[in-house]
Amino acid sequence: MLTLTVNGQAKQVDVDKDTPLLWVIREHLQMTGTKFGCGAGLCGACTVHLDGVAVRSCQTAAADAVGKKVTTIEGLAPAGQPHPLQVAWAAEQVPQCGYCQSGQIMQAASLLSKNNDPTKAEIVAHMDGNLCRCMTYGRIQRAIVRAAADMRAKSGS
Ligand code: FES
Ligand code: FES
Repeated sequence: MLTLTVNGQAKQVDVDKDTPLLWVIREHLQMTGTKFGCGAGLCGACTVHLDGVAVRSCQTAAADAVGKKVTTIEGLAPAGQPHPLQVAWAAEQVPQCGYCQSGQIMQAASLLSKNNDPTKAEIVAHMDGNLCRCMTYGRIQRAIVRAAADMRAKSGS
């Protein structure tokens, strides 16, 4: 039995310590916003945060999340108060099929938590490796720029 802190709540799960965090999140905790894409660390669909750092949950053992804060797309922002990225995603109409998008947003959120004025090159470098079969990359980049501007306006910086 492992105890994980997921979206601010302690969760006990009866899993092997090597079980991928992705399966704990999806199968044991029934949080299906985090997606299975490749299962091999190659696509980013499964991106979540561990202590605020974007990680690929398909490549993270459940035991490695013990003692850390796991944040999934469901816990990125309080209910009814969407994260600036989620607002920008809607405004830019980013998703097409949508499958990759929660991973994209979690990857982007880890950038903006450290840097609310990223350059285009920094955005491209940070998002490199989060794949989208629908080729929404241009809209993703525009949404990140929009969200960063929104965050700067709100913080007065
Ligand atoms: S499902 Fe984890 S990187 Fe593709
Ligand atoms: S929106 Fe379809 S894979 Fe990205």
